[in-house]
Amino acid sequence: MFKEDLLKGKRILVTGGGTGLGKTMTRGFLEVGAEVIICGRRKSVLDETAAELNEETGGKISTFHVDIRSPDAIEEMVDEIWLSGPLDSLVNNAAGNFISRTEDLSSRAFDAIANIVFHGTFYMTNACGKRWIAEGRSGNVLSIVTTWIWNGSAYVVPSAMSKAGVKAMTQGLAVEWGPKGIRLNAIAPGPFPTEGAWARLRPKGSYGDTLPGKGTDKIPLRRTGEHSELANLATFMMADECTYINGEVIAIDGGQWLNSAGNYGELGQLTDEDWVGIRGQIETANEK
Ligand code: HXC
Repeated sequence: MFKEDLLKGKRILVTGGGTGLGKTMTRGFLEVGAEVIICGRRKSVLDETAAELNEETGGKISTFHVDIRSPDAIEEMVDEIWLSGPLDSLVNNAAGNFISRTEDLSSRAFDAIANIVFHGTFYMTNACGKRWIAEGRSGNVLSIVTTWIWNGSAYVVPSAMSKAGVKAMTQGLAVEWGPKGIRLNAIAPGPFPTEGAWARLRPKGSYGDTLPGKGTDKIPLRRTGEHSELANLATFMMADECTYINGEVIAIDGGQWLNSAGNYGELGQLTDEDWVGIRGQIETANEK
């Protein structure tokens, strides 16, 4: 889909790049020539991913063991990265989430999510942004949010609140830092099956169970997302050829969130026979 050297010469940091969608995007960036640094909380997972993706793509990849809830640890990491050269892009992918009735959450449970998503994403963004500004360099921040930034979501309230905050950061800084050559955008993925998200968002017995593809009746395209589709969008957002996009949130969800917002999306389940009956009823009403 892309020319082989689309991202050649670019240095990209992907938070939470060892697993799930972070790993998928990292693979996509490496395939088109970027150098990628992945960071996360589990060193062995990061190192395994780096070895696997290096073998698969031949790309340059390194790892940093860091907990993005700690601003000091972030500063240390970003300082060390900068010693070998500045970053071109930051991908805020690291997140935490689980379904729960909100009244069952302790304050520590709320903080467990908010500290990663809300605070950690800001710490990372500011750590890179202030360096780009000090050096007069351009920069690019892509944050992974979710479609519930627009309409909230029951049972994942700490995540919805935190991700909505990341959207506000993206839009605010797109204006504040745009004149300095730094652009910020976000991708809002719908359901893309990953081990981490599925275990916490669709445990057995809950909506959709654990099987990918189940619970797709509310998605107009009637399927979950393919990882390569997300990687393609993220790769596009990293490229110099699309740098006029700033402050946008792009949904990639098969139209799912629009269906949740309307009143009639569920009518997609009706049969041809149902529609004949419905039309008959309406015509009868019109005749009265
Ligand atoms: C209620 C829970 C809970 C649960 C944890 N807690 N799990 N409360 N129901 N299922 C409470 C604990 O009891 C504790 O509070 C507090 O939360 C902190 O728990 P810890 O286990 O100590 O937290 P920590 O080790 O920091 O783990 C963070 C985590 C964990 C977020 C809870 O799940 C994690 O590390 N997740 C990272 C990966 C992840 O979440 N991936 C999915 C991302 S999906 P008390 O008061 O008891 O001490 C995503 C959106 C995708 O982001 C959108 C797709 C559409």
